[in-house]
Amino acid sequence: MWNYLIFSGLFAIVSLLLTQNLKRPISIVDRGKTRYDYVIVGAGTAGCVMASRLSANSNTTVLLVEAGGYFGWLSTIPIAAPILQKSYMDWAYKTESQSFSSKGLLDNRQNIPRGKGLGGSGQLNYLVHSFGRPEDYSHWPEGWSHVELQPYFHRVTKLVRARAALVKEDLARAMREAANSLWGSGASFAEAQTTLYKGARWSTYHSHLRAAWDRANLHILVDTTVTRVSDLLSLRAIACPPHLRKTTVEYTTLTPFASLELKILLDKENKIVGVEVQYEDGLSEEIEATEEVILCAGAIGTPHLLMISGIGPRDQLDKFKIPVQLDVPAVGKNYIDHFNMPVYVQLKSPVSITLKKLQSISTIVQYFLFGTGLLASNGIMGIARVNDSAVLLAGIASTDEKLLKIISNYRTKTFRSLFPSYADPMRHGFIFMSNCLQPKSRGNITLGSNSIFDRPIIEPAFLERYEDVACTINAIRLGLSIIRTPLFRKFGAEVHVPDIEECQDLVQDYRDDAFAECVIRVAGLTSHHPTGTCKMGNSDEDGVVDEFLRVHGIQGLRIVDASVLPIPVSGMPNSVIIVLAERLAGIILQSSKFKR
Ligand SMILES: Cc1cc2nc3c(=O)[nH]c(=O)nc-3n(C[C@H](O)[C@H](O)[C@H](O)COP(=O)(O)OP(=O)(O)OC[C@H]3O[C@@H](n4cnc5c(N)ncnc54)[C@H](O)[C@@H]3O)c2cc1C
Ligand SMILES: *[C@@H]1O[C@H](CO)[C@@H](O)[C@H](O)[C@H]1NC(C)=O
Ligand SMILES: *[C@@H]1O[C@H](CO)[C@@H](O)[C@H](O)[C@H]1NC(C)=O
Ligand SMILES: *[C@@H]1O[C@H](CO)[C@@H](O)[C@H](O)[C@H]1NC(C)=O
Repeated sequence: MWNYLIFSGLFAIVSLLLTQNLKRPISIVDRGKTRYDYVIVGAGTAGCVMASRLSANSNTTVLLVEAGGYFGWLSTIPIAAPILQKSYMDWAYKTESQSFSSKGLLDNRQNIPRGKGLGGSGQLNYLVHSFGRPEDYSHWPEGWSHVELQPYFHRVTKLVRARAALVKEDLARAMREAANSLWGSGASFAEAQTTLYKGARWSTYHSHLRAAWDRANLHILVDTTVTRVSDLLSLRAIACPPHLRKTTVEYTTLTPFASLELKILLDKENKIVGVEVQYEDGLSEEIEATEEVILCAGAIGTPHLLMISGIGPRDQLDKFKIPVQLDVPAVGKNYIDHFNMPVYVQLKSPVSITLKKLQSISTIVQYFLFGTGLLASNGIMGIARVNDSAVLLAGIASTDEKLLKIISNYRTKTFRSLFPSYADPMRHGFIFMSNCLQPKSRGNITLGSNSIFDRPIIEPAFLERYEDVACTINAIRLGLSIIRTPLFRKFGAEVHVPDIEECQDLVQDYRDDAFAECVIRVAGLTSHHPTGTCKMGNSDEDGVVDEFLRVHGIQGLRIVDASVLPIPVSGMPNSVIIVLAERLAGIILQSSKFKR
């Protein structure tokens, strides 16, 4: 049995040796200055892009604040990604107990991993590249149409080094042949594009941040948490030049609260002037942003920070006695995620990736010498879809029970009934991750306390809408039709029907709707694509940010990360988020006074 601990221990040692020689980048500082032009919160997929683009002009000062530290060298090995979960590099959130799904998980709760450190979730994701479907963008606001974004798609495709890595594998070939056999059925197929360079992970940490982090005008604070964004009290004195006081007088005639003069002035202006940070050693400081604060803290971190700062639905803020800076009802609403049903397919031919193959000397040598082979892949052999239903072929046969159970939160019984390979690392098979590209269910993020250091409450409401179940059933059917094509038959592909306690009274066949629904509600898993919690929209009723990603009703505050996506991406979100950030950087630079 493969012991992933020994495996990761080995890599940790190599990692230590390698990073010890790393020179400290100029931009990494211990303490921030009192003032920058731009303050960027969160060094994830979007934050790394913003930091690099905005600091390109040496006359602009930029601060990037990141709650975590560095990702270890292990994170560069694509197929090792699951090992990073539950480590110090992962926020390791959990959802609320689910009512419509997750019945086969401990406490009916899903794990929600999120990257913590330079590169964010881009450093522990599964590296699949996609821009969704063109029609997705017809639901985005003005300026973000698929046609207008073309230049950014081209640029980002190059930046992320998207390419299909596993084309030579037998299962990838079988998917291509299935595409031919099923031609005309309405199904379409695609190779799985991955973001890899020389066999290693290629996130925006690599493509953007590392290229910028020796600039004197960029400062990066690691292990530092932004605890508040606000019109900081102590900064108000500075931010309130005398000529504006006249406005106060005019305004106070409308209100009886004369003592609130200063606050009212700034509330009327509604200008965010900075952030409060807390360093690892506990020291807190206020840092001013003379131009803008840009939130890139992710689909969970951004709404959480906004609400803690008093920007969010009034009822939520009142609940924890947080002074309301601005009532923005849409903050934390519209939580979107894809939901995946793993359908296991057994194979007679030895064409999948077994743990034995992964650990073989030849695989390891191939990786370290040439940066190729299975370790340099994410195991995804192909993607197929019909209408809104999709399957991803994950060509990994045997799954380390301990690891998979830890990261999925499956009960032992559920896990063993789904994956017959649990006790046999030699066995061949693969998994069809079956999902719905445009789920209709919408969850939310709410506060659990008034501290940024406590976890927010995550309610994805998976499968609340029946359409999502029906759509996932169609995805499973697509998988079943794929394995009936000639090459899969030749490989002896046969679907494994899980023996699930909760579904025992039903016809034990995925072709039966009731059975399929039951299994999906027991064993489906998050796809790790939380998005939408501060969505773009035309009014503050409907959205949190406008088409320039400015928070409605507030000056000097923008959001760019997974939270602004208005509807699901029909695919994976990471590269779409890079597109968002690249375009926003362009918008800011164009209107900035630092123009070249
Ligand atoms: C296991 C997994 C697999 C995935 N697989 C894929 C895939 O194959 N393809 C794909 O396209 N997408 C995938 N994704 C999703 C994708 O990685 C994310 O959608 C994307 O990285 C989100 O980018 P972001 O900029 O919104 O946030 P993140 O990259 O999560 O960055 C947010 C950053 O902000 C920091 N932060 C948060 N709060 C604070 C604070 N208060 N102060 C300071 N810093 C803070 C965090 O530490 C983090 O570094 C996957 C995700 C996971 C977790
Ligand atoms: C796809 O959607 C169309 C239109 O709703 C429908 O006619 C067709 O049957 C669907 N295809 C499949 C394979 O479900
Ligand atoms: C969050 O979603 C759940 C499930 O749909 C719902 O019951 C709850 O009322 C929602 N909370 C808020 C604040 O929107
Ligand atoms: C920076 O500012 C100086 C003085 O205003 C100007 O001469 C110089 O061209 C600017 N540099 C850039 C890169 O914009």
